[in-house]
Amino acid sequence: MGFTPTEKIWFNGKLVAWGDAKVHVLTHALQYGTGVFEGMRCYATPEGPAVFRLDAHLERMVKSAELYELRIPYSQDTLAEATLDVIRANKLDSAYIRPIAFFGAATLSVWTSECPVEVAIAAFATGQYLAGADKGVRVTVSSIRKFDSAAIPAWGKACGQYINSVRAVQEAQRRGFDEALLLNSHGQIAEGSGENLFLVRNGEIVTNDIDASILMGVTRASILEIAGDLGIPKRVAPISVEDVLGADELFFTGTAVEVTAIREVDGHVISEGKPGPVTRRIQETFNQAVRGELPQYRRWLAFARQTVIS
Ligand SMILES: Cc1ncc(COP(=O)(O)O)c(C=O)c1O
Repeated sequence: MGFTPTEKIWFNGKLVAWGDAKVHVLTHALQYGTGVFEGMRCYATPEGPAVFRLDAHLERMVKSAELYELRIPYSQDTLAEATLDVIRANKLDSAYIRPIAFFGAATLSVWTSECPVEVAIAAFATGQYLAGADKGVRVTVSSIRKFDSAAIPAWGKACGQYINSVRAVQEAQRRGFDEALLLNSHGQIAEGSGENLFLVRNGEIVTNDIDASILMGVTRASILEIAGDLGIPKRVAPISVEDVLGADELFFTGTAVEVTAIREVDGHVISEGKPGPVTRRIQETFNQAVRGELPQYRRWLAFARQTVIS
């Protein structure tokens, strides 16, 4: 997800040049990780660029901000309009979008009451997050545990908590894998470093819930809905390492990875080492939905360019 600079970034209420979206080195969020953010994607559709589930993502960002008493000085509607402005201003057809709200520079005290809140929304063209994702990825069960929600609520999306993901993915890459699977404090599967996990067993899909210390993914929720529409049986339940190793198919979901099959876990080949039929069916429907090709999911799209439909 390397980025090519675009022309404009929305920063504290206005569009500024990419190079002018700067902060001080004593920014509280840089020192202590005190920010919240989102990752969203904009897709090219027959009706122009559209952001997938813009409202759900911004709602999660507002909730994450409340968790850290970070008062975003803009309404969710303003942030939604600003997101679409960034797409339009940079003439992007498809993009990865990164909204962030964080405590700025004012003090090095741990408390935040004196810090200003800064908000930025950047967007840039992007491709696949994990290399070779179309063939399926190879994962390792990490020795690094997912932090427990009793310490930092995993349902929030705060900047600082991602050092946990960073450590896990660094270890996975050191071991020669594409991605990590983190166990939670109960020794069950939590999620990937930036993805939720689904398994397929006897035609049924299973994913875990908030009590597994996961981020409640917007893609996860969308896939559960799509599976229901496709008549694929679904269950939300804890997932063990044994469940993973015994699965017929495994796949990750997330804004960055979209729907990505897992073809190996620590040397155990899954689904003959390629994306399985249930994964492919869900993946195809998801890919069509985000690109505006399925009318029933049009409600999930926020169009940047309003076109008149005759
Ligand atoms: C830790 C973690 N889990 C799951 C997800 C997937 O969430 P979403 O589908 O909302 O992108 C993400 C990505 O935001 C993540 O960082």
